[in-house]
Amino acid sequence: MKTPNPHPVGQSAPDRAPEDACRHIQRIQDAAALNMVLYAFCELRLADRLAQGPATGPELADWLRINADAPDVDVSKLERFLGVAEAGGLVTRSTQGYELTTAGRTLDSSAHGSMRPGVMWRGTDLSRMAMASLPSTILTGKPSALQGASGLYDCLQRQPAADQRTFDEFMSRFSDRIASHVATCSFRHIEGECAFVGKQYVVDVGGGRGTLLAETLRNHAHLRGVLVELDRVADEARDHLATAYPDLTGRYEVVNGDMFKEVPPRPQAVYLLSRVIHNYGNDQCAVLLKRLASAMGESGPGAELFLMEHVLPEDPQMEDARLHPSHALDMIMMALTVGGQERDLFALSRLLTDAGFILPAAEAKPDLPAGMTLVIARINPDASPPR
Ligand SMILES: C[S@@+](CC[C@H](N)C(=O)[O-])C[C@H]1O[C@@H](n2cnc3c(N)ncnc32)[C@H](O)[C@@H]1O
Repeated sequence: MKTPNPHPVGQSAPDRAPEDACRHIQRIQDAAALNMVLYAFCELRLADRLAQGPATGPELADWLRINADAPDVDVSKLERFLGVAEAGGLVTRSTQGYELTTAGRTLDSSAHGSMRPGVMWRGTDLSRMAMASLPSTILTGKPSALQGASGLYDCLQRQPAADQRTFDEFMSRFSDRIASHVATCSFRHIEGECAFVGKQYVVDVGGGRGTLLAETLRNHAHLRGVLVELDRVADEARDHLATAYPDLTGRYEVVNGDMFKEVPPRPQAVYLLSRVIHNYGNDQCAVLLKRLASAMGESGPGAELFLMEHVLPEDPQMEDARLHPSHALDMIMMALTVGGQERDLFALSRLLTDAGFILPAAEAKPDLPAGMTLVIARINPDASPPR
């Protein structure tokens, strides 16, 4: 199935006047430089320090000398850097020194839903190499950053342990931002009973460290949970859940498994699939969704799938659609996965209906925080059983 171009012919944004055109290119280039400022701010853990209270340039330099084990910190370079961080909206200055702005506070590693792991992930060798190799990915059709690995997760397995943890931490902190909305069914456009009422199980497929699952279990005392993950992440999930959610002990199981081969059936279940299918091409998605449909067929009537993705905007005339966050992610998927891509609602719906689902809430399109969209699907009773 071909994904429609998000910018159909004749609907491009209006062109710029010549004097604005160079400024536009300059702004894109500058955003790349500011991205490095963001990375350095996180790498140096300046938000962690400033979350404790304001500090002057010399105080921050002293803190770095000790905490970054860097006796030669250059105060004037640090202050120049902080001036750019101020212009970029990460800090403000008062008589007491530098303070975090609201945006700067999201970079504190202990903040709920911290953005720091995501920034650090984009700074890993693998991420940088992937974006740098975009031209060759286009020219050869192959994401050269994967260096012969069969896909992102195979490649991740070969990365330094610290980078693997950064990726998992990034996923987990991102889940923090949507978990309470999903767990409480707080969707802006869907009315009626929460999908978890009257269910017995929630099964999170490719659920990372289990944040989404755990928040759902906490909000619904009658539910039991299952997390399906690859070996390496499953071990991390067990540690994370035991440490961060000791109150849930005995209510969940972590299953080491390959979701393309088996998805465990559970009675009366809601299945969660969050940010998984954007890692794969349409053929692999079809295999996975059929596995899910088959498990849900055994789960009994009322089984539901919550599919959560960063959906490409459908209307290119929308102001935000010209450069939507899902466009950047789409390029990352192109450079870092085999066939992975962001999709618009039309393409997601096609994948689901082809695999034997119906979308009772297709019109609802509830938007989750962090630019995510939730699509709710059920088994189509009239479809032939998935093979
Ligand atoms: C992009 S992450 C999303 C994690 C989580 N669902 C979230 O939204 O934060 C995709 C997850 O799928 C897991 N995964 C990838 N391939 C898998 C497979 N074949 N079987 C089970 N899990 C897999 C990865 O380990 C990773 O944790």
